[in-house]
Amino acid sequence: MILRRSHLAAGHLPLLPIPLLWMILALLLPATTPPMCHGKTVGPSDPLQVQLQPEQGLPEPRAYMPDAQHLDFVYHDHEELTRFLRATSARYPNLTALYSIGKSIQGRDLWVMVVSSSPYEHMVGKPDVKYVGNIHGNEPVGREMLLHLIQYFVTSYNSDQYVKWLLDNTRIHILPTMNPDGYAVSKEGTCDGGQGRYNARGFDLNRNFPDYFKQNNKRGQPETDAVKDWISKIQFVLSGSLHGGALVASYPYDNTPNSRLLKGICRSSALCAMFQTYSAAPSLTPDDDVFKHLSLVYARNHAKMSRGVACKSATPAFENGITNGAAWYPLTGGMQDYNYVWYGCMEITLEISCCKFPPAYELKKYWEDNQLSLIKFLAEAHRGVQGFVFDPAGMPIERASIKIKGRDVGFQTTKYGEFWRILLPGYYKVEVFAEGFAPREVEFVIVEQHPTLLNVTLQPSKYLLAASGATTSASKASPTSTSTQTTTLKRRVNDKLELSTD
Ligand SMILES: *[C@@H]1O[C@H](CO)[C@@H](O)[C@H](O)[C@H]1NC(C)=O
Ligand SMILES: *[C@@H]1O[C@H](CO)[C@@H](O)[C@H](O)[C@H]1NC(C)=O
Ligand SMILES: [Zn+2]
Repeated sequence: MILRRSHLAAGHLPLLPIPLLWMILALLLPATTPPMCHGKTVGPSDPLQVQLQPEQGLPEPRAYMPDAQHLDFVYHDHEELTRFLRATSARYPNLTALYSIGKSIQGRDLWVMVVSSSPYEHMVGKPDVKYVGNIHGNEPVGREMLLHLIQYFVTSYNSDQYVKWLLDNTRIHILPTMNPDGYAVSKEGTCDGGQGRYNARGFDLNRNFPDYFKQNNKRGQPETDAVKDWISKIQFVLSGSLHGGALVASYPYDNTPNSRLLKGICRSSALCAMFQTYSAAPSLTPDDDVFKHLSLVYARNHAKMSRGVACKSATPAFENGITNGAAWYPLTGGMQDYNYVWYGCMEITLEISCCKFPPAYELKKYWEDNQLSLIKFLAEAHRGVQGFVFDPAGMPIERASIKIKGRDVGFQTTKYGEFWRILLPGYYKVEVFAEGFAPREVEFVIVEQHPTLLNVTLQPSKYLLAASGATTSASKASPTSTSTQTTTLKRRVNDKLELSTD
């Protein structure tokens, strides 16, 4: 109730990290839980060995036939990028929708292209996923790869069974550039350095998100706010953020509880830097097996990444081409930790070029190296458990809190009562909690070949039914406010879609 009042007063969704919510909810959960067998695994538990079979006998995605008439292997400035996206959405109205999530400081649109057989509408029960490119303006290989990925999807849908399966079952949102202003002042051929890395006010956007471990005092930037708003409205299941300057797939956490301590014990910044270098230690999430697996899917489908060869003699070599973010170097305010902790979206950071801004003639090679990874990674959204939370009348329960037992980073249902969680084969228990309902625990099994479908029905809480009139009216007020708020949010998303598809 305290939670509800404070978030209504603030007038927006509560920005409480989900683990904190769970700490509070844990106090409300019954102490007695049915016995279960968890900890056991089904099938291979080594993430290296787990291969997703989205559909029996589905052939591997085919190579892309680049079409210079529509999209060449060159860098596209903001006007060219906008023209390509508009032309593609006009040419493929049944497979794409173009919308803007906001503008950069200098007024450039942050375009998102949805690619799906249902581009305008969420497919109930099917996951939404995303890629974000160019958060660092001087790392534009990902930006170009995402344009080619769009072109690949729309041109392959009718001829490639794998692409058709993916687009029929997934809504893929692609933000090719999160930092168009930084890109505008970056220089092709510049492999290192910071020019163009930041937004137009000099902020590093991948240090600009709220942080789970540490207070982030950096002023929120419009590009970051646009992304925060975006991911608060769409429940993304899986996400990749594309960078350059290394060749590795890096997974949460990027920050560590120790960084707060370090800040407290050292005053001189030179000393701090030294401490931080030596303090680089893994900071693992409760979903570490899943994050390692997702990173390996990218690295192993990439032409070179999983070899783990160092970019330069002075830079680290990463075993199997993956690393925990904090083990590489800890940072505060990163986007991947925010996605995971606040929304339960499994985001990883993909460093796809040793040179930050390589010459354009190398782009074709980068595409060949990354094509399969970019596609196979998204298909991982179809691994694990998915389902709905209903009330006894079969109505969906929105914003029910869900946690996989033993994995203390929770997530919430959508307005259709849907949830998804990527999990490797094994036995699990899910805990479901919604205000006004009795909490429930349900056991389930994940097998390798297909996702587990799990619908959970919650019964109204006996305590609430027996409670006083005051409590009852307060608990009645809540769903109304929540659904009004959601309707507003939904309308805003739709307005943007309509506005930007001119
Ligand atoms: C889009 O789908 C509709 C309905 O299935 C179809 O009639 C139309 O030809 C399609 N348009 C294109 C450009 O493929
Ligand atoms: C779960 O609920 C959805 C939505 O009502 C339904 O389509 C699906 O068949 C149900 N699945 C199971 C396994 O009951
Ligand atoms: Zn970067």
